[in-house]
Amino acid sequence: MGGAPVRKVAVFGAGYIGLVTGACLADLGHRVVVRDINPEKVELLRSGEIPIYEPGLGDMVAQNKERLSFTLDAQEALDGAEVVYVCVDTPPSASGDADLSRVWSVVRSLEGASHLKAVVMKSTVPVGTGSRVRATLDGAGLGHVGYASNPEFTAEGTAVRDFLHPDRIVIGASEEATARLISDLHQGVDGPVVVMDVRSAEMVKLASNALLATKISFINEIATLCEKTGADVEHVARAVGLDHRLGHHFLRPGIGWGGSCFPKDSEALRQLASNTGYHLQLLSAVIEVNNLQKRRAIQRLKDELGTLTGMRVALLGLTFKPGTDDMREAPSTVLASRLLAEGAEVHCWDPMARPAEVEPWRSTLQHVSPELAVEGADAAIVVTEWPQLKEVDWARAVSMMRRPLLFDGRNLLNPGAMRALGFTYISVGRP
Ligand code: UDX
Repeated sequence: MGGAPVRKVAVFGAGYIGLVTGACLADLGHRVVVRDINPEKVELLRSGEIPIYEPGLGDMVAQNKERLSFTLDAQEALDGAEVVYVCVDTPPSASGDADLSRVWSVVRSLEGASHLKAVVMKSTVPVGTGSRVRATLDGAGLGHVGYASNPEFTAEGTAVRDFLHPDRIVIGASEEATARLISDLHQGVDGPVVVMDVRSAEMVKLASNALLATKISFINEIATLCEKTGADVEHVARAVGLDHRLGHHFLRPGIGWGGSCFPKDSEALRQLASNTGYHLQLLSAVIEVNNLQKRRAIQRLKDELGTLTGMRVALLGLTFKPGTDDMREAPSTVLASRLLAEGAEVHCWDPMARPAEVEPWRSTLQHVSPELAVEGADAAIVVTEWPQLKEVDWARAVSMMRRPLLFDGRNLLNPGAMRALGFTYISVGRP
């Protein structure tokens, strides 16, 4: 700990962010109690199991079990706590703004916790939320308790590594002492600390995700133009990314971005702007391009097959990206819905996802291997770039399909090799 004191920390919310934050803070030496309102989740965590798939998280929880506990009881979590981390979800409300009801319920539960030193917001919230929380804390006699915004930039699948080796730790606080306290909590984390005011920190999170989403939508539009002009987007992206001012990250074309953050946060930022009377034109286009990208994939199959009615289509990979079991806002859900609406039969494979028994998944068939999913199919779509798909015996797969149409929505496979096997192979932005 290099001299920084060990703190007692209460983490509210045992989702991706709360679990990773709790486990990593315990790993840094702090005593952490994670509180969640879901009894099954807490029971599972107490028995040493992790309710989500996140590489390295299970080991980290196990290694730190003397310093890390789980509870349903807010008061138990708050007992003796010096710092409270708010890690609850903020899903879109009916108006598209972030729904902060879970945040407020945590803030309300702090009443009487006068021993607290700071409340830290990890949940992604609209700019200005900190001021409202501050006023609520003041009104509850907790004026002496500091408040900080400490947005999370971890990506699923690499969350533990991202937490311990971040590009930056952003701390937005109005008092220096609070900023120092939160900075000290991170002692042992390998990354620069950037301190600013609360509103700016709230904006950093939304702006970062929006810019990442912009890069992807941008390269997806260039990919479409490459298809129309005979250029190869893979060459273009590689060479554009070599410009150090641009960088090669998030220039991978595909059938669109999804997940728990980009769709929700880009919409929340757009609504935040609308609420101030300003229309964010660029971000609106970024979202629109992403919506179109998924629909274009279906249109391209339709162009090839003439019709989708009665066609059997295999979706290979369902999660919003590889290395996770997360299906939130996964492009596969839009593809499955569109295919079913066109009268196609949908067969699926994914190594991790177990989609809930809801539409569109209720009307699809899940298979245990990519080969079984493509058997008898008129077309297959690589939706998520799971590495397992590189290992498929495609020579066998092509002979098992009714029609050898393969749409590689992630440019995972080699076009020449696939065509040599007899596939009608289409991908994103490659001639
Ligand atoms: C993202 C941010 O990266 C992270 O900083 C933030 O805290 C939460 O949101 P995550 O949603 O876990 O993390 O996934 P990420 O790896 O960023 O991918 C998001 C989506 O973009 C995925 O659907 C992925 O397939 C897509 N993507 C990403 C592309 O289509 N092309 C790319 O070049 C990169």
